[in-house]
Amino acid sequence: MTETVLMKSRIDVKERDARVTQLHEQLIEIEQRLIPTGLHVFGRAAELKEKADLLRMVASFDRPEQGARALPKLVAEGLGFDTEAVNESPANETRELIDGIVAESIKLFCEKGSDEAAAFLNKNANVMNDESAPTFALLEKVSQQLDSNREIDSLMRSLRGEYIEPGPGADIVQNPFVLPTGRNTHAVNPYSVPSRAAFDRAKHTADALLRRYLDEHGRYPRALALVLWGLDNIKTQGEGVAQALWLLGVRPVRDTLNRATEVEVIPLDELKRPRIDVVMTVSGIFRDLFTPTMALLDKAVRRVAQLDEPPEMNYLRANISNSTENATGDFDDAVTRVFSNAPGNYGANVNFMVMQSAWENEASLGDLFVTRKCFAYIRDSQGGTVEGREAPQLMDAALSRVEATYQNIDSFEVGITDVDHYFEYLGGISKAVETRAQAKPSIYLSDSLSPQTKIRSLEETVRLESRTKTLNPKWYEGMLKHGFRGGAEIENHVTNTFGWSATADAVDPWIYTEITKTFLLDEQMFQRLLELNQYSVQSLAKRLLEAHERGYWNPNEEVLERLREIIDQIRLAAEHSPTERAVASS
Ligand code: BEZ
Ligand code: MG
Repeated sequence: MTETVLMKSRIDVKERDARVTQLHEQLIEIEQRLIPTGLHVFGRAAELKEKADLLRMVASFDRPEQGARALPKLVAEGLGFDTEAVNESPANETRELIDGIVAESIKLFCEKGSDEAAAFLNKNANVMNDESAPTFALLEKVSQQLDSNREIDSLMRSLRGEYIEPGPGADIVQNPFVLPTGRNTHAVNPYSVPSRAAFDRAKHTADALLRRYLDEHGRYPRALALVLWGLDNIKTQGEGVAQALWLLGVRPVRDTLNRATEVEVIPLDELKRPRIDVVMTVSGIFRDLFTPTMALLDKAVRRVAQLDEPPEMNYLRANISNSTENATGDFDDAVTRVFSNAPGNYGANVNFMVMQSAWENEASLGDLFVTRKCFAYIRDSQGGTVEGREAPQLMDAALSRVEATYQNIDSFEVGITDVDHYFEYLGGISKAVETRAQAKPSIYLSDSLSPQTKIRSLEETVRLESRTKTLNPKWYEGMLKHGFRGGAEIENHVTNTFGWSATADAVDPWIYTEITKTFLLDEQMFQRLLELNQYSVQSLAKRLLEAHERGYWNPNEEVLERLREIIDQIRLAAEHSPTERAVASS
């Protein structure tokens, strides 16, 4: 008896330690997250604190083209740690030590310049000055360009019809050469996509995605649905495209003009896992910018579908033989995997339906996604190009086998609650899968923002975004500085969060409770918001009430009463305001 109790308590101690470690890792993850504080003001340069955060992120990646190494790696090596081991976990004492040294050196760099920062690293982490010099040279260039902002000048020149120099479109951290801003953003040559570097990164990320699914389900997903956006594939030189290719088990091959127009099958003994069936929904922007890339993706699917491989190692082929046996028997139909809007059309509109509360049941959100996105872009067996054939049955069939949905996030500036397009696309497709496959898919997002690629479930990502942005004083105080617009941004975040309830039931009720407490029940904050933007306060209260009415949150009656009171109070105030009366009587 005593022994059992003891054993139990030993297990509990172990379990407790594991939970404490897990909690610690989550706190570190929140702490390390780069949080945009406030909106970009056209023509205004970055502030010092923001600049230091950005430079720290820029310095955490190797930049072989500049011969610049990542500062955390240099510090780890200087202190005699194994860099791979340090990178594996976001939270351990070694990592904290390294991050602390790097942060201090960046602070010194911003305040006193490269020499002081390099000397600090030399003294505290045995990093030789000539090793850190290329990295600090890069930081110096980035820093100068962050200070010199040409946006207003360029706008004036463009209004006069003058020439504006071109610059690449990307995220600062991904590619610091987007600076200086205020240039004419150009895209990439679609034939250069995916780049070699993008393919290497994609292997990492897609493997992490499969590993995560395997850990949770004990097997690989038989089919995945991917969302591919145009701007993201510009920024990453085709990382999303490369992920799709790698999941299928092929690599891009360049022709004599160095254009990625062909694919090469990776043998199963090299791949060491089954080929995954992938359904790709691409945005209208992607379709317009990456037409040859869509053909490449379609080619990859057709090639893999025709491989003579056992069904348990080629899920695409297995799915296609099942559907050709059961349905029309048409190979071109069964192999259709690349979908977008009708030619000339953009967007899934799921966001508008949610924002306007214009939906009765959740399934209609998924149905709208398919209605908008069911246009097939393929090349048929006769070599003819099919550009946007409306094919809802083919999309329904492809989605009915999907077990996980996924989108790549590649910008620290725009996350899944900052804009409505993530729930429009990833939320929309996930709901479409849920009703067609009759099972909720696992929904994942990758985070290629940090050097260690991280796959998170949608629920984890919503929690992380809520904690680091919507509910984080650092974030919302930054927004409140922007007055009316800042108030609107806070309300947008709440609506975008709600979008994840509507499309994927992925929001913990505590998030709505904390939002209510922070912005409406806290009297001081409520008054501040009311002063800045009463319309957004009213919409926010309405959205929270809607979250309750649709079953996503169940606060007590007192809270509900307060929400109704706020809505009425603002409505009455508006009705009695002189401008509203003037509008009403005109
Ligand atoms: C795109 O880049 O494809 C995109 C951007 C914003 C919303 C949806 C798609
Ligand atoms: Mg529910």
